[in-house]
Amino acid sequence: MEIKRENLIATLGGEESVARMDSEAKADALEDFLSTELDKILLSKDPFPTAAEVEQKIPTRHYRMGVGNLFVAQAPGAKVKILPPMPGKPTLYDFFALRFAPANHVLQSAALAMKNGMPEEIILACLLHDTAQALMKADHGYWAAQMYTPYVPEKTAFAIKYHQALRFFADAAYGYEYPDLYRRLFGEDYVPLPHIRADYEMLKKHPWYEAPRLVTVNDYYSFDPNAKVSIDPFREIIGRHFKQPKEGLGNDNSPVAHMWRTIARPDMAL
Ligand SMILES: [Fe+2]
Ligand SMILES: [Fe+2]
Repeated sequence: MEIKRENLIATLGGEESVARMDSEAKADALEDFLSTELDKILLSKDPFPTAAEVEQKIPTRHYRMGVGNLFVAQAPGAKVKILPPMPGKPTLYDFFALRFAPANHVLQSAALAMKNGMPEEIILACLLHDTAQALMKADHGYWAAQMYTPYVPEKTAFAIKYHQALRFFADAAYGYEYPDLYRRLFGEDYVPLPHIRADYEMLKKHPWYEAPRLVTVNDYYSFDPNAKVSIDPFREIIGRHFKQPKEGLGNDNSPVAHMWRTIARPDMAL
């Protein structure tokens, strides 16, 4: 990956902010910068590609774009790391700290939802909405909703599931525009897949339309190293609405326990 120094510095808030960072913070920031292909795409000033050009790039990579973040080191030449072990009875907090970290995007999204006075079910949805990208980025809203359904309110799971479809459709009434990021990721002439269009048609008539729409409104891709991101502001909401299984996530024999186990141990060969 080619790194433009000025792009990196701009992303970190300019020369002054960088000067204030200690070397550990700089190393962390660089790692974050490199951590996803998304960063590179987002910072691009190139014209938007066409969907055909996006497809032509597939054989230039050693991984597929839909792969979960835990399963691939995306920077060329980088290697995956040994992950810290999970405790015997892992909680949602353990997954955030040891598998979803740094989780900047979802923590900032939930903080924005809290600042905007969203209902607790929506703040929780914002906090969790993209965490399944650790496991799988393709269709991640559907994966996440499945993963969380046994443990969160129905409306939270609904909001998580359908943010996936509503991200593709603007809604001026909520101030939501089609994201430029999608023009880069999918191509400017991309047409959403039939299941996404069908879900959108269903949602337009659904009494809970607003729930996933509010996730999209509070969903922004941002990288602000000066933002203090922490799960602490959300502990009360998690405590009230997240049904932590006493055996630990992955050990409770729920229909989705294997998904949590896979995130806990992504190095299992089989
Ligand atoms: Fe998402
Ligand atoms: Fe998101």
